[in-house]
Order: sequence, then C-alpha cells, then structure tokens
Amino acid sequence: MHIETLRWVGERPDQARPGYVRMVEQTRLPLEHIEIEVRSVPEMVDAIYRLAVRGAPAIGVAAGFGVLLGIQDQAHREPEALLEHLDGVVETLAAARPTAVNLFWALERMRERARAEAQAGADGERIVAALFEEALAIYEGDRRTCRRMGEIGAELIADGASLLTHCNAGALATAGIGTALAPMYVAKEQGKRIHVFADETRPLLQGARITAFELMHAGIDVTLITDGSAARVMSEGRVDAVFVGSDRITLGGDVCNKIGTYGVALAAQAHSVPFYVVAPLSTVDPSLLSGREIPIEERAPEEITEGLGRRIAPEGVAVYAPAFDVTPAELVSGIITEVGLIERPDRAKMEAALRRGGIEPTPSKPEESRAPGS
Ligand code: MRU
Repeated sequence: MHIETLRWVGERPDQARPGYVRMVEQTRLPLEHIEIEVRSVPEMVDAIYRLAVRGAPAIGVAAGFGVLLGIQDQAHREPEALLEHLDGVVETLAAARPTAVNLFWALERMRERARAEAQAGADGERIVAALFEEALAIYEGDRRTCRRMGEIGAELIADGASLLTHCNAGALATAGIGTALAPMYVAKEQGKRIHVFADETRPLLQGARITAFELMHAGIDVTLITDGSAARVMSEGRVDAVFVGSDRITLGGDVCNKIGTYGVALAAQAHSVPFYVVAPLSTVDPSLLSGREIPIEERAPEEITEGLGRRIAPEGVAVYAPAFDVTPAELVSGIITEVGLIERPDRAKMEAALRRGGIEPTPSKPEESRAPGS
C-alpha cells in the first residue's frame, strides 16, 4: 500500500458541509506520520510554503484543491464576479512557491476551465461544479501518469540493479506512486531485486526523512548516504543508474530539481552512469527554452543555520540558500514522461513529446541563454 499524500474530503460542492483537504504533514516525517486538515486558501499557501505538502506534482494537485477551498462558497455569484474572485484565489496560491511549474500549470488549468464554462453560458453553480470536476481530474490524472511513468521507467531497471536518487520524488511528492521512485515500485512488483542509495538532501533532508521512510515502508532495500557521498559510491562502481524527479523542465531539456541534483548529474557523467529524470508533461514549461530562465526559490537562511533542531552555524554568518539547481540537457540521458522516454533530450524531441501529449509549445523568450555548465 502506498502512502496517500493528500486528498479532497467532501465529494461535491455542498454549502452546508464545506469540503477540505487532508494531507500528510511531511515536515514531521519520519518520526510522526500524521495528517492535517487544510480548510482555507491561506492555510493551503502556508502548507505549500512550509513543505507540509511538497514535490512538484503534489503541489499542482494541492493548488487545484486550494482553488476549491477558495470558491466552494461562491456558487451564488454572477459568473463575472465569480471569475474575478477566482483570479484573486489563483494569485494568492501562485505566490506560495516560485519554482515548481506544476503549481502554475494547475492554477491555469482551473482558470481556463472556469472561463470556458462561463463563455458557454454557465451560471455560478455550474462553474463551481466544473471546478470540482477539474481539480479531481488533476488528482486522478496525476495518479494515472505516475503509474504510466513507472511502467516505462521500469523497463530501464534490470534485476539486481543498484540505483541512486536525490531528494524525494516518490509517492509523497505526488498523488500517485511518485515520479523517480515509480519505476522502482513497478520494478519491485515485477519481481526485480533492486537497491537504492538515497541522498540525504541538505538542508531539509527530504531524502533522509521522506525517501528513506517511503522506500522502507514499501519494502525496497535502501541505503542512506550524505549528499557528498554520491560521487564516491559512483566511483566505487556501485550505481547502475540515477533516477531523479523535476520541478521544471525547459523546451531545451534543461532540468530543474532539488539543489544538489546538478552535482549528482556531473558525477554521473564522470563515471558513465546513466542519469534519468522522471517527470510528467505538466512539469515541462512550454514557454521556456533555457534553464537560465527558471525562477529559483531561495529559502530562509535558518533552514541551513538551524538544522538538527538547534543552531549549527555561527550567528551572523552570510548564507546563500537556493532550493533548486538546473542540470543542463547535455547531462541528461533521458526524460521519462507519460508519453514515453525522451532519450538525450533536445528542443525537437521535447516539442514532439509535448505534441504527443496534446500540448502546443509556446516559447516566449529568445534562445539566447543556456543553463550553467552548458
Ligand atoms: O522542495 P521540495 O521538497 O518540494 O523539492 C522537491 C523536489 O525537488 C522533487 O525532486 C521534485 O519536485 C520532483 S517530485 C516528483
């Protein structure tokens, strides 16, 4: 049984009994496995910012549910007033975190659905009902997509393989069985014996706290290592492939993911270890050509200076705390999406994959810059 990361409670809009979101409180893992109830838009923004819910696809699902929290009592409004209110809700949710494009993808999908309904003459009640359908479709779609990526990715995993992953791109980062961890779960279902090195992932330790917990819960053999050990275990010939998730992928195939991923990719290249990214098409930003254009979240310095429940760095020290980095396409062996494996990604292959998924690429910036290192 995989962990249920988040879900909507309350099937349809019901004025008398408003629905709400139940989610695993991920900041407390692994010592406590508790759920929290999220009942308003500000509470959802807080849950996303605090990383109570985290991982790009889960943030997208949370955003869809966040819209429901903001509009479920608005069915009495005229369509125009409802759309205006929706814009405010979307803007508030969009400010929660800047990097994972799934947040903006889901919010835009919700807004477009509401506009299309209004244009077709729907009243407030119908628009709200349609938004419920859309949010649940995002949730269900994510579950299906994870399974599909798992099936495609499992073909790259041989019996007896030893893999390495960074951060957490598992069930706890999605509504389904994860992205980077999905191929591992499917490989296990297929009877393959696998072993996984999990980078601890400084500073918030998603690898130590969440990936290690999740893989152990699923009965997968996992070894926790410090981030600095990743190159070492590769040099020892103990890693057959790296699987990571992503927060945003550009049309050029540059991959943004948790800080430290770029170093893992460089080490993988140095040791001829294949470096795979597993991500749904909703993580591809069809408007960006280069990784340099991706907004990189910077977190509070205390996340670095106050680890382990106490101050660990001198008072007053300068801190630089980017939460993500960009791995240039050149270092990526393949991107596993729900429409197939994109080997050695480049713009033509990325655009072809998007079109297979029914998405039209819309590059809005000139191709002047490339990701660091490219
Ligand atoms: O800061 P986080 O924990 O939200 O960062 C998560 C990651 O970097 C994941 O690897 C990424 O979102 C992919 S999750 C399927």
